[in-house]
Amino acid sequence: MAQATSGQMALPRRVRIVEVGPRDGLQNEPTAVSVDVKVELIERLVAAGLTVVEAGAFVSPKWVPQMAASAEVLARLPKGGDVRFPVLVPNDKGLDQALGAGATEIAVFGAASEGFSRKNINCTIAESLDRFRPVVERATAAGVLVRGYVSCVLGCPYEGEVAPEKVAEVAGELAAMGCYEISLGDTIGVGTPGKAVAMVEAVARKVPVERLAAHFHDTYGQALANLLAVMGAGISVVDSAVGGLGGCPYAKGATGNVATEDVVYMLNGLGVESGVDLGRLVEATQFICGVLGRPPASRVARTLLAHQAAAAA
Ligand code: HMG
Ligand code: MG
Repeated sequence: MAQATSGQMALPRRVRIVEVGPRDGLQNEPTAVSVDVKVELIERLVAAGLTVVEAGAFVSPKWVPQMAASAEVLARLPKGGDVRFPVLVPNDKGLDQALGAGATEIAVFGAASEGFSRKNINCTIAESLDRFRPVVERATAAGVLVRGYVSCVLGCPYEGEVAPEKVAEVAGELAAMGCYEISLGDTIGVGTPGKAVAMVEAVARKVPVERLAAHFHDTYGQALANLLAVMGAGISVVDSAVGGLGGCPYAKGATGNVATEDVVYMLNGLGVESGVDLGRLVEATQFICGVLGRPPASRVARTLLAHQAAAAA
């Protein structure tokens, strides 16, 4: 594929954004967000041009109460169009529920560190892979696409440093069992560009870089820099959340995902296509941040909303 360039760095011409705000963004909210709000948020994100919007999770409601109504959310989303609405599934029970709710894409989620695997899904990495294998097999047989996540790819809240080779091993297992794409999660946002590139290069020796996605949280303000660096290493799929919402209940202290607005602004400036309309996106930001009662974490959204307010005054 022909490439855009940034200085000496070759970049993909187009990036596919996987919007995770309605799932990762809302799973950690302290107060319940209604189905109506989630559906309206998703509709607004689709109107802004996002073509993959993670819509919920079929996990234990005792573990993550905010995702309890994911079947109701899915039921109200359009079926059979160009937009995909993946949902997280940790086990057979989750898959039964996702299939019952008409999901056409799911994501299984593992980790590169034992400590996080235990805290997040209550099993070892090896047990999680054994659990995912039949889930992937059954989903695939039902014509459902399966994505795989690896969490803690650049550090673990319980174990600190994580070896790139361990990330590569888990990513390789997920790819081998049939996940079409592996999303590499810097769950606690501790990565820096050099380490992010080294990790992607290690994983790419096992799974072609075309099948990898970057899922970076922004705890230390490094997510955009990390993204630009891994785009230079061949990554062309980026997970992000509207407003920079997000966090994992089992990764205390971690803040939100990189904001979709910030990613789109950067891509626009680089001449890399995403198909997302920044103005419409910021309307979605304004909507969800209005409901949550706080300003967006996205610097781009805050600036554009301030310009709008000044122009209207
Ligand atoms: P467990 O307690 O070991 O499960 O939890 P269990 O099989 O022993 O079952 C216990 C109870 O949960 C039973 O109910 C099951 O029926 C029920 P009870 O008999 O007590 O009434 N149960 C379920 N209910 C609904 N849906 C299910 C389900 N499975 C069992 N699928 C389990 C194991 C995996 C279920 C639990 O640990 C869990 O739900 N964990 C999810 C945690 C989570 O969602 N974390 C956030 C997403 S991951 C993330 O954010 C990272 C990511 O963004 C990437 C990154 O940033 O790195 C993806
Ligand atoms: Mg995440």
